[in-house]
Amino acid sequence: MLCTTVSQFIGQTPVMPIAVPNSGATLVLKLEKNNPGGSMKDRMARSMVLAALEDGRLVPGGTIVESSSGNTGIGLAIAALELGLRFIAVVDHHAAPDKIRTMRALGAEIRYVEGDYREDEVAVVERQRLAAQLGAQLPDALFMNQSDNPANPDGYAGFVDELLTQLPDGIDAFVGCVGTGGSMTGIAQRLKRANPAVRTIAVEPAGSIVFGKPGHPYYQSGTGTPAGDEVGKVLDYGCIDEGVQVTDTQAFETARFIARRHGLLVGGSTGGTIYKALEFIAAGKLSGTVVTPVADGGEKYLGSVFDDEWMAKRGLLDPTIGTQLDAWLTGRARAA
Ligand SMILES: Cc1ncc(COP(=O)(O)O)c(C=O)c1O
Repeated sequence: MLCTTVSQFIGQTPVMPIAVPNSGATLVLKLEKNNPGGSMKDRMARSMVLAALEDGRLVPGGTIVESSSGNTGIGLAIAALELGLRFIAVVDHHAAPDKIRTMRALGAEIRYVEGDYREDEVAVVERQRLAAQLGAQLPDALFMNQSDNPANPDGYAGFVDELLTQLPDGIDAFVGCVGTGGSMTGIAQRLKRANPAVRTIAVEPAGSIVFGKPGHPYYQSGTGTPAGDEVGKVLDYGCIDEGVQVTDTQAFETARFIARRHGLLVGGSTGGTIYKALEFIAAGKLSGTVVTPVADGGEKYLGSVFDDEWMAKRGLLDPTIGTQLDAWLTGRARAA
């Protein structure tokens, strides 16, 4: 493919089927990490900027402000530099350091929120407050507010169009992660429009409040809604058949297993959706073609999820999870 701008490389991401023996199911990974900013968020970031320019909320040469754990910010940094806009990313220490370095390398201005927070605590409320304040105070600035911005879910139209072409024999289920809910809503609504029988499962970190469970801190980055924050207005519960939780240990051990088994580096939130997809398949609750996105790559978490010492220090290692995954993927065991 010959492209003259990096954003032309957004989309057309490959799919990788993994057979699950004795289950009647194939797990299909859609490699969104192959987008130029390394995550599925490149799609929605560009969609939000183009929509704002189109309806005049953002003027040429204006400033984008957004609160981001990193991936949306990386997508916005690419969109901003190509479209001649200034971009200020409001971040906290919970974001993976390499994501912040990437945003800075792409010309973004970084603003850290102030205050003392636990290592596994997301300062998302303060991030939102500061981003809204900057958006209101700076001239020609717009707070993108991905949690409430309809161009966030709309940004995934291409994801579904590609999938329907890539999997002409049909899609039976989609298992996705939930942070703002933008990707889940944008994908699940469109998949169900194409085929109302598609089963949709949304996965949040244990400790996230999207599905009404009590909140507590968690290490999974970019996904979930922490206690104290509001669930995004973009999230349409009506398109989700089941909401489930995955622990940090299950998510991270799965990401480590997939790296060793398939040579594919996936991020922690993707480890979580793969774990739950396989658990559902093993329990006979999903069959046929089950799709999950590789929301981002493990390259962004080499100092955490893939660092033995980091994992051990936080009590996140559990070798029994690798054994369970191996059993599921070799068809040796079915879940109880
Ligand atoms: C790695 C990763 N996983 C999951 C999500 C959640 O996606 P969404 O905000 O579309 O719910 C994000 C969002 O930033 C992310 O960066």
